[in-house]
Amino acid sequence: MDSFEYRDGVLFCEEVSLAQVAETQGTPAYVYSREAIERAYMAYANALNGRDALICYAVKANSNIALLNLLARLGAGFDIVSLGELERVLRAGGDPAKVVFSGVGKQPAEIRRALELGIFCFNIESDAELDRVNDVALEAGQVARVSFRVNPDVDAGTHPYISTGLKENKFGIDIDQAEAVYRRAAALPGVEVVGMDCHIGSQLTEISPFLDALDRLLALIDRLAAQGIVIHHLDLGGGLGVCYTDETPPSAEAFVEAMLERIGDRPLTLIFEPGRSIVANAGVLLTRVEFLKQTGEKHFAIIDAAMNDLIRPSLYSAYQEIIPVQLNDDVPSRRWDLVGPVCETGDFLGKDRELRLQAGDLLAVCSAGAYGFVMASNYNSRPRPVELMVDDEQVYVIREREKISDLMQGEQLLPSDD
Ligand code: LLP
Repeated sequence: MDSFEYRDGVLFCEEVSLAQVAETQGTPAYVYSREAIERAYMAYANALNGRDALICYAVKANSNIALLNLLARLGAGFDIVSLGELERVLRAGGDPAKVVFSGVGKQPAEIRRALELGIFCFNIESDAELDRVNDVALEAGQVARVSFRVNPDVDAGTHPYISTGLKENKFGIDIDQAEAVYRRAAALPGVEVVGMDCHIGSQLTEISPFLDALDRLLALIDRLAAQGIVIHHLDLGGGLGVCYTDETPPSAEAFVEAMLERIGDRPLTLIFEPGRSIVANAGVLLTRVEFLKQTGEKHFAIIDAAMNDLIRPSLYSAYQEIIPVQLNDDVPSRRWDLVGPVCETGDFLGKDRELRLQAGDLLAVCSAGAYGFVMASNYNSRPRPVELMVDDEQVYVIREREKISDLMQGEQLLPSDD
């Protein structure tokens, strides 16, 4: 992880002790490093320097407006999948002209708002969605810039729940049907065909599936050109993996360079939609050990963070490192299952972890900056954690810890019976 290191046995984020943060802000708490986020973004930006390109950060990975604002200040565009994400981008000072709108089920009201704001492109995922975008644009007296998400049928070699580029997935338009859809779109008055996009999955740790997909898209672009349909931009989606434990994904630079080399001097504007690789390793989830408990052979550490705060371990059997905030060699080491207070057997953040633990200890669940808070829920009526951004010696609250009263917001009793 970037920008997190031990100093005299205490885990720091930039210039701030995480023990101190837990003391003042309580736990569980998401803590992000500004420096790490900016460094990860700049790796893409530097690799694309001099190219006609746009980096559209995938808002779904972490949509806090403070974080979006930092990226907007660096010139980022945004990949959104809902009206909610679009409004967040606006609130964060993002430029709608740098927004691409992905997702399989865009609502008419979402399309209308995106048109009104003049977004860069709608990434269309089906024939039926093409008709909807065309109809809404005509009603609004506008022309929608569109790209089609082509499903290239390549195996991304990642977890089945986050693999998206195979024929059997719900995403995109089958590459064999794409030409016909492009031809139909070219004749519709409410849309202007400008691009082609794909996204084959997430947490990819090899370059080869990206290159396979790219080759298929470039061949399709050539076939379309022969029919007079010119593609101006190519959007290669997100998906670059990060190191959670011992994975060795390519760096953003190596990934971008491999893509650029294959694209050569084609006159294409390039778009990337990275999410995880910008934010995952820029954040931790801080949690405190409540109790230690032994049942039979098993040792459980009951912590104050749970599956509702971070669902990746339960949902995808995802492995995230869990490390002590304060090193303590005096306590014996043993294997622990780290479980939360939620009433589900699947409520764990880590299993069989070798740690030196005592009740009251603080732990950091690593690589929690992506798909952490955004996937948190209020299950078991648990308020969601505070989100904090560290910038050098400063700690900023970028989202307050939810209060119990927030949980019942909008709920109503039925009228009384008498
Ligand atoms: N573009 C599109 C169209 C996407 O569907 C996604 C992610 C991205 C970009 C960003 O992908 P990234 O660079 O973050 O891999 N919740 C899962 C990950 C789901 C990813 C969904 N789509 C997890 O926690 O692993």
